[in-house]
Amino acid sequence: MSAKTLLSLRNIKVTFGGVRALKGVSFEVNPGEVHCLAGENGCGKSTLIKVITGVYKPQDGAEFFFDDQPITAMTPALAQSLGIQVIWQDLALFPEMTVAENIGFQYAVNGKYGLVDKRKIEDAAENALARLGVTIDAHLPLKELPIAQRQIVAIARALVGEARLVFMDEPTASLTQSETDYLIDIVRNLSASGVAVVFVSHRLAEVLEISNRITVLRDGALVGVYPVEGMTQSRVTELMTGRNFDNTVIANDHDQKPIVLSVRGLTRAGEFENIAFDLRRGETLGITGLLGAGRTELALTLFGMHRPHAGEITIEGERVSYGSNRDAIRAGVAYLSEDRLSLGLNQPQSIADNLVMASLDKLLSGGMISPAKKASVVDHWISALGVKIGTPDDPIRTLSGGNQQRVAIAKWLAIGPKILILDAPTVGVDVGARAGIFEIVRQLATQGLAIILISDEPPEVYFNADRIIHMVEGKIHATYDPRSVSLAELEAAVYA
Ligand SMILES: Nc1ncnc2c1ncn2[C@@H]1O[C@H](COP(=O)(O)OP(=O)(O)OP(=O)(O)O)[C@@H](O)[C@H]1O
Ligand SMILES: [Mg+2]
Repeated sequence: MSAKTLLSLRNIKVTFGGVRALKGVSFEVNPGEVHCLAGENGCGKSTLIKVITGVYKPQDGAEFFFDDQPITAMTPALAQSLGIQVIWQDLALFPEMTVAENIGFQYAVNGKYGLVDKRKIEDAAENALARLGVTIDAHLPLKELPIAQRQIVAIARALVGEARLVFMDEPTASLTQSETDYLIDIVRNLSASGVAVVFVSHRLAEVLEISNRITVLRDGALVGVYPVEGMTQSRVTELMTGRNFDNTVIANDHDQKPIVLSVRGLTRAGEFENIAFDLRRGETLGITGLLGAGRTELALTLFGMHRPHAGEITIEGERVSYGSNRDAIRAGVAYLSEDRLSLGLNQPQSIADNLVMASLDKLLSGGMISPAKKASVVDHWISALGVKIGTPDDPIRTLSGGNQQRVAIAKWLAIGPKILILDAPTVGVDVGARAGIFEIVRQLATQGLAIILISDEPPEVYFNADRIIHMVEGKIHATYDPRSVSLAELEAAVYA
């Protein structure tokens, strides 16, 4: 007989130093359901998952049942033997190992197949990939795969065991819309085959599409558990934040302002072709489009990481030709990458060191880094971006995903750029913090910064840009003014 409730927790409390990450939370999952765990950055979602998988011990008084059996001390090994699997926010894969080794790793280690048997590991990996209906060469080193495929590898690794409960901590954070749709299909299949999936995502549209129930946490405490039926995005947002957000179009004309960046005929064979636009002081230019539209490739070229095959880039009237991204930074260009896994942050280093990493030359005083200047820059940006931290000397890895994202943005703002390119800046960032980030983007624009905002979520560019370029297959397909097009029209064009 199978249990009615697969997992049931009560009174879960976790404290880190002075931070009460979980303040007595309850949580339940039914067999085969898709359950969303929702809440703002730092509300305790990942911590709860770590308690369930035995990574953290909750304080005394916790109750923990799996299959109606009491669990007195959960450990990672026990969690695995019960069929509880996690796809972590940072994927926790090994870039140097092959796809097969990544997927079959724990089985090799557990000795389930006796000695490390390469063939069996490869078979297990290929089976798991086949179950997901994907073809990825299992012999390739993981580091050669794009992020979306690494995500698939992480899922395959979870499936290689006999999973009954799979946690996905922001699985779609670095995926495009079509990849997300694909992942949603995978989740539905898992659920149909009786595997329960707990899904953490800040993309509320997809949460509502995929889940049966939502558990909302706020500031380490349970707000409530809700059936998805009848739920709306704005209601979830309100439950998560206790506030209400209104979206309004902010687009404005900038025709009278000086041109900061001018691009003509910019081309990289196979990536993008004949791109031309002007970007003016104080203007925010949105760029949207689907996977393979060439947005990120264009951004990397504007940032000097790739060389154009043809065309011109002009900054404040001067034609530039970058040898590397150092030249681009010197010319006043900052680029926040979409790479959710690294964000250009150095995980073991402190929050402060990460924040000043790109702007060290501004902190020099007589050839040395001035601690006073550094502290004031760090304090300024931590408070300007509302980063929730203990002290600036804590390692960056102790911050929640969304707070790391804010430090990554601060790192680039600290160089005082003329042009800021934000590539999917709100990936993994909750609604409240998104609003915060866009408020900052607006302030920066008001102060004269020229901004390129890249996003595959049409609402983000619609509500936060002055003008929107829609890219399709490496070309500018159309340019929109948010004041003269509806969001529905823009979405229809992008998803056409
Ligand atoms: N190892 C740790 N040491 C110190 N503080 C921690 C540690 N792990 C988490 N925290 C803190 O506990 C709180 C909850 O963090 P958690 O990672 O669970 O948030 P989250 O809901 O997953 O957020 P996000 O959406 O940003 O990923 C945060 O204040 C975080 O900074
Ligand atoms: Mg998290």
